[in-house]
Amino acid sequence: MSGVTPQRNVSLRSFNTLGLESRAAAFVTVQSDSGLLQALRWAEQQKLPVVPMGEGSNVVLAGDLEALVLRQQTKGREVLARDGDSVLLRVAAGEGWHDLVGWCLATGYHGLENLALIPGTVGAAPVQNIGAYGVELASMIRCVHARSVVDGSLMRLDHGQCEFGYRDSVFKHRLKDDVIITAVEFELTASARMNIEYPSLKQYLHDQCRQKPTHRDVYEAVVSIRRARLPDPQLEPNAGSFFKNPVLSERSFEALKRLAPGVPVFPQASGEMKIPAGWLIDRCGWKGRRQKNQGVHSEHALVLVNYGNSSGADLLAFAAEISESVERTYGVALEIEPRRYGQSA
Ligand code: EPU
Repeated sequence: MSGVTPQRNVSLRSFNTLGLESRAAAFVTVQSDSGLLQALRWAEQQKLPVVPMGEGSNVVLAGDLEALVLRQQTKGREVLARDGDSVLLRVAAGEGWHDLVGWCLATGYHGLENLALIPGTVGAAPVQNIGAYGVELASMIRCVHARSVVDGSLMRLDHGQCEFGYRDSVFKHRLKDDVIITAVEFELTASARMNIEYPSLKQYLHDQCRQKPTHRDVYEAVVSIRRARLPDPQLEPNAGSFFKNPVLSERSFEALKRLAPGVPVFPQASGEMKIPAGWLIDRCGWKGRRQKNQGVHSEHALVLVNYGNSSGADLLAFAAEISESVERTYGVALEIEPRRYGQSA
């Protein structure tokens, strides 16, 4: 294959932020759409499935991957349309997420500030509908462009077709192994409403005496809060939140409240109640606990850390112990957030 040559039998250790050892049958980095097409054709000839990988910041590799692991480094930010102070922006999948947030802020396209410092690429962001500090990415996505792994054809999924939910989208279900996201279109505005109601953000801005914060103040507050509480994967390998926050019916929430008076709650528009899994794990005594090579971070109970040569299987066994203890204590089942590979997930 000219231009794009996959390598065989590649260690993925430096391509996942948990630093887990796993080998890919083949690995390729593509920098252009034609490179992507070539890589897809190669995988088809070799009869290998394709696994797209951004920065590997939301994956647990629990074994070797009999697949072509494909890393996109396609770049490009293009203003497609302007209307008053609104802008429609098309961004290539290989752009870094946090770089995009910083660039939008500096350029005066607002709305993404609460999502600052989330690791990963633009192409990975819609898959789990990244969200933080009261904002979900879905609210700013107009559509997602993708290529079919099956026949290389281009497709455009509008907002509704993406079936976004809390940490969820069609890319985790019906289209799970079938498409490679190539670009995302965002609708942003110069006068975007500020979202400053999330408790820790509100508290931070209050402490900084920011009664009327600017978009930059919000961005800087989010960056500071994240830096203080979430470990840097370069220093303590992790994949951010290891579990999703459970969303309970009102009835299950009432039952939980009897067992855990004072549990924080984020009521959802649906009438359901979102509970911080980190709070439950913390109350079960796991925060800061280490077991052999893995542990629960000392500042945030939702983050598991690989402290040495932990394997994906060891980490998942540790996670299972944590979720069993939460279920035993509070009757609440936890769901793992990052995508698992190399085992039936
Ligand atoms: N809490 C504890 N102990 C802990 C951690 C949290 O009691 O060790 C309590 C906090 O005191 C607070 C509540 O749990 O009352 C919520 O904590 P936090 O604001 O840190 O948010 P989270 O629900 O734990 C979610 C996202 C994060 C995101 C934050 C901020 C999920 C799975 N995680 O965490 O996303 O940054 O909200 O919006 O929804 C990620 O996905 O990797 C991630 C970091």
